Amino acid sequence: MKVDVLLGLQWGDEGKGKVVDVLTPHYDLVARFQGGPNAGHTLEFEGEKYVLRSIPSGIFQGNKINVIGNGVVLDPALFKAEVEALEKSGHILTDRLKISKKAHLILPTHRLIDQAGEEAKGSGKIGTTGKGIGPTYTDKIGRYGVRVGDILHDFKAKYQAAIDRHKTMLAQYNFEYDLASLEKDWFEGIECLKRFELIDSEHLINKTIQSSKKILAEGAQGTMLDIDFGSYPFVTSSNTICAGACTGLGVAPRYIGKVYGIFKAYCTRVGGGPFPTELHDEIGDLMRKRGNEFGSVTGRPRRCGWIDLVALKYAVMINGVTQLIMMKSDVLDTLTTIKACVAYKIDGKIVKEFPFSIEGNLEPVYTELPGWQKDMSGIRSESELPDAFRTYLNFLEKTLQVPIKIVSVGPDRMQTIMR
Ligand code: GDP
Ligand code: IMO
Ligand code: MG
Repeated sequence: MKVDVLLGLQWGDEGKGKVVDVLTPHYDLVARFQGGPNAGHTLEFEGEKYVLRSIPSGIFQGNKINVIGNGVVLDPALFKAEVEALEKSGHILTDRLKISKKAHLILPTHRLIDQAGEEAKGSGKIGTTGKGIGPTYTDKIGRYGVRVGDILHDFKAKYQAAIDRHKTMLAQYNFEYDLASLEKDWFEGIECLKRFELIDSEHLINKTIQSSKKILAEGAQGTMLDIDFGSYPFVTSSNTICAGACTGLGVAPRYIGKVYGIFKAYCTRVGGGPFPTELHDEIGDLMRKRGNEFGSVTGRPRRCGWIDLVALKYAVMINGVTQLIMMKSDVLDTLTTIKACVAYKIDGKIVKEFPFSIEGNLEPVYTELPGWQKDMSGIRSESELPDAFRTYLNFLEKTLQVPIKIVSVGPDRMQTIMR
């Protein structure tokens, strides 16, 4: 059967982890196709909370196969920590988690180059997660990368050649570091990786497509962080969009099925870069507080603002979204008025189509809608939704021209309304 794809439509942290977990019972295989431990996907159920970084969010629902695809970049040290934390809480992964031999390894020096590069950029820094994502993808494209499959063949020579190159780069940054201590954890991570089945995952994925089984591809980050279509250069280094699932798993475009586009009822961003609807007032603070908007990986406070329908429409277009999922609706429960950005005013001109750049003299144009002022966190069915909230949903559906099929009203698996 076809591969369904679930993607973030904003600047990441939309709630992908929660919804992948909720949808997993309908699938046989869940796969990550890009990004790496820059992701932090949070799941909550039965009073427990988990944050996943490289392991797919389908790992908690029965015996489903989970795959880390070729498009992912993997840090063995962080992977080991993630595996051990899950095993400690009773989730044994060995037979259920498979890793592509073609996924690229984040070397300890990639992390150092990421950090040194950011330091050197000064006030122009991107605000990366410091996990070595950019340098690892740079080496992949530059054809210097070391892949998971390499740990099985002539590994030490490949590793050393890469490290020697990176040391020359780090010397230019004048960056101080202690490689030996990083390497200890890293090589222990390599041993942990060897406990898992390392496969040519494109074969497994395509055999599954040819069978009656169903695949869910789990995106990381969000469309506005996509290397091609995001707010460049304040983006991540991979294709976070639907097309990324094709290259990151080896799926032909004709085998893509549903495209779930996930967004928050408002908008957040972590790290640097333009954010037209950002709020620096008490409403922004309220969103941060009620939405617990602090990075799941870095703990950084997330910047908060109103929903941006110019950017969201663009994301729907680029991904070919077939159904929408709205998250964190409950965060806006207390507001009397909700604003939605429907256009930008750039140098005095109204612009409705997402432009080349959203930096500079840009002002959001808002439509105002009434707030619902009702606690929705306990609502479990569509019929209980307040009228003003329905008006907001209808307005978004009309603007985006795609149905909103799932509404989330809290972090727990159960706080999910199917429409
Ligand atoms: P992801 O990276 O897209 O998986 O999202 P994150 O896990 O980084 O951030 C989403 C945060 O919002 C997590 O702390 C979730 O537990 C939480 N969350 C998810 N859905 C909801 C919701 O509907 N309401 C509230 N209040 N929190 C939610
Ligand atoms: P999930 O999957 C939110 C942001 C960083 C920075 C930029 C580049 O949890 O939604 P990188 O380390 O990738 O080179 O950083 O991208 N970023 C994210 N923001 N959620 C994420 O992942 C992110 N992954 C990267 O903050 O601005
Ligand atoms: Mg996240």
